[in-house]
Amino acid sequence: MRILVTGGAGFIGSEYVRMLLGVPGGTAEGVPALEPTGVTVLDALTYSGNPANLAPVRDDPRLRFVQGDIRHAEVVDEVVAGHDVIVHFAAESHVDRSIAGAAPFVSTNVLGTQALLDAALRHGVRRFVHVSTDEVYGSIAEGSWTEDWPLAPNSPYSASKAGSDLLALAYHRTHGLDVVVTRCSNNYGPYQFPEKVIPLFVTNLLDGGTVPLYGDGGNVRDWLHVHDHCRGIAMVQEKGRAGEVYHIGGGTELTNKELTGRLLDACGAGWDRVVTVPDRKGHDRRYSLDITKINRELGYAPSITLGAGLAETVAWYRDNRAWWEPLTGTANA
Ligand SMILES: NC(=O)c1ccc[n+]([C@@H]2O[C@H](COP(=O)([O-])OP(=O)(O)OC[C@H]3O[C@@H](n4cnc5c(N)ncnc54)[C@H](O)[C@@H]3O)[C@@H](O)[C@H]2O)c1
Repeated sequence: MRILVTGGAGFIGSEYVRMLLGVPGGTAEGVPALEPTGVTVLDALTYSGNPANLAPVRDDPRLRFVQGDIRHAEVVDEVVAGHDVIVHFAAESHVDRSIAGAAPFVSTNVLGTQALLDAALRHGVRRFVHVSTDEVYGSIAEGSWTEDWPLAPNSPYSASKAGSDLLALAYHRTHGLDVVVTRCSNNYGPYQFPEKVIPLFVTNLLDGGTVPLYGDGGNVRDWLHVHDHCRGIAMVQEKGRAGEVYHIGGGTELTNKELTGRLLDACGAGWDRVVTVPDRKGHDRRYSLDITKINRELGYAPSITLGAGLAETVAWYRDNRAWWEPLTGTANA
């Protein structure tokens, strides 16, 4: 099986590639044996794409890396040819950046996805796995979203992801393309670009700095270790039903304030290192996914507790300064 992974030099995509290629010492338990004969990464290497994320599998003869933009139909057409499956991660992914400027979010997340879907149709790709987010539902005060919940995105990021989800599902209904969509909660783990809250806080704390807490710190997120996310995607890739959406959650909801407390503890710092900043515009209050469907149909359940995952993540950032210092501009500072 030849698998094309878009955005495979990013945080989650690179974990998927490392998992597919079975990095020695990687936790393969509970991961379907997809046994790829070839894995192609198509990635534009934007600010968040980093070839160093693929260093552990760089020498695997099954890996091919193509630097290219999913918005360029000719490039996409050439790369998609010969693949059985596309797992589509490539996206502009940071909400704050989408508030500052929405154009790259719409062009990459919507039009880039369309270019990939068209190429998948042309080349008879057998399965298109579209990786999306719980943010497409907006915010929920109580209870949890099921997969048939109406979409009500609030940020330009989530609106562009919702657009791409609908487009992918429309290609299934209109053209019969085998599409499956996954929607997951907030990921954390090694190799996450230090603009997202957990690596931002951890790297600031390790550097002796302060951390910015939005508003009253009461926004609630469900935290999912990136490895559990990728296990869930692999299960959907292997056995998900065409045309269906599957939620992948971590099962641990925390307010941002509670999360901050855990990160301060893990880094041995106190609340004097926390600075309250004005709330993000249109900030969703709470996300919560019901994961009954993927659990019943595919046997998915998160396997890494937040306590163990955060400890491992903090240790990884402590041990891998050479990876993140060039990204935060703190090297030799
Ligand atoms: N991080 C999360 O918590 C989270 C949660 C839910 C869903 N997701 C989704 O998972 C996917 C991956 O997220 P991530 O956190 O790994 O993001 P990331 O920003 O770390 O990685 C995105 C990757 O896509 C590449 N890319 C961006 N624009 C491109 C383009 N036009 N052409 C080709 N490559 C391009 C980047 O170079 C980068 O390698 C995204 O689709 C995102 O919406 C992420």
